[in-house]
Amino acid sequence: MQLRIVVLPGDGVGPEVTEQAVRVLREVAGIHGHNFHFEEHVVGGGAINLNGLPLPTTTLDACLAADAVLLGAIGSPEFDHLPADRRPEAGLLMLRRKLGGFANLRPIISYPALIDASPLRSEIVKGANILFVRELLGGLYFGEPRGILSSNGSSAAFNTMRYSVSEIERVARVAFEAAMKRKRKVTSVDKANVLETSQLWRQTVTRIAADYPEVELDHLYVDAAAMHIITNPRRFDVILTENLFGDILSDEAAVIAGSLGMLASGTIGGAIDLYEPVHGSAPDIAGRGIANPLGAIASAAMMLRYTARLADEADDIEAAIDNVLDAGYRTRDIATGDNRRVISTSEMGGLVCDTVAQVADIRHAYHAV
Ligand code: IPM
Ligand code: MN
Repeated sequence: MQLRIVVLPGDGVGPEVTEQAVRVLREVAGIHGHNFHFEEHVVGGGAINLNGLPLPTTTLDACLAADAVLLGAIGSPEFDHLPADRRPEAGLLMLRRKLGGFANLRPIISYPALIDASPLRSEIVKGANILFVRELLGGLYFGEPRGILSSNGSSAAFNTMRYSVSEIERVARVAFEAAMKRKRKVTSVDKANVLETSQLWRQTVTRIAADYPEVELDHLYVDAAAMHIITNPRRFDVILTENLFGDILSDEAAVIAGSLGMLASGTIGGAIDLYEPVHGSAPDIAGRGIANPLGAIASAAMMLRYTARLADEADDIEAAIDNVLDAGYRTRDIATGDNRRVISTSEMGGLVCDTVAQVADIRHAYHAV
């Protein structure tokens, strides 16, 4: 299998964690004889410093010519003073729009080994496994008109939340299809008691649900969903929601996994799929070799699952993550009081590489009998 992967390390901890994800992908390619080709480009703050633009044309063109894009993180406090359209984040949003992926998949898994890393009680998080399907190209992030108006010394700012039926339909189908392969339940999250966009959302999702009679659908208002996610996470299978609600709720749900550093994501449905850990640039810990690379590594596994359709290889990476955690190894963010095996970013990457090889061997042995 040939795969052309554009790697965008980006800002903060992005370069450290993508380095480990690439290392794991190389390991997998070596084991299975795949040909993964990596090409690195600048994006975000690093790109602004080089040439003033958060998404240079060379970077975008390379992404558009790739099979998949693996992004580290974007954003740095250094650029906080810039207007929204010139900040590093604008580069990420432009990239998302140009690549066209509208369904952002964010799995939230309570790893048995990390139960104690969650601030939630173990009987609440144990066994929780949620897939967020976040709409990624609409809503307040992209709605027009938007802007800041100033007159007579006073200012007002405005954004537009807009969703068309077809935008809702296409992401809803992704959620129902995903649910068919899981526990067959979709919870659609909206604010239909207040917002027209949410009323259209609820109506459209309900109509699409008729095509998936095996899938149970329920609806929650976003405020109630925020509470249920941390009081009863096991009630959820797939959570389908719009862009901003999904952004907020998926960070909240990270407490189930124990750390934002654990969360992976993949954005599908467009011309080119985009994979990125959920954690962001974490400037406070960047460059110290302590960031958790597992979110980036798990994003690489999603790339193999969804873009390359290499399910065995993706399973192997995920099993390797499980095994390394079971063996007690932790980066600082997921270490609890009694952990003696606190390791660095690159040690974690190295352990996953070693384990991936073992896991693949074992799977082969099973297939042989
Ligand atoms: C995320 C991030 C981004 C978002 C930012 C960096 C623009 O928070 O991927 O969740 O809001 O989508
Ligand atoms: Mn976010």
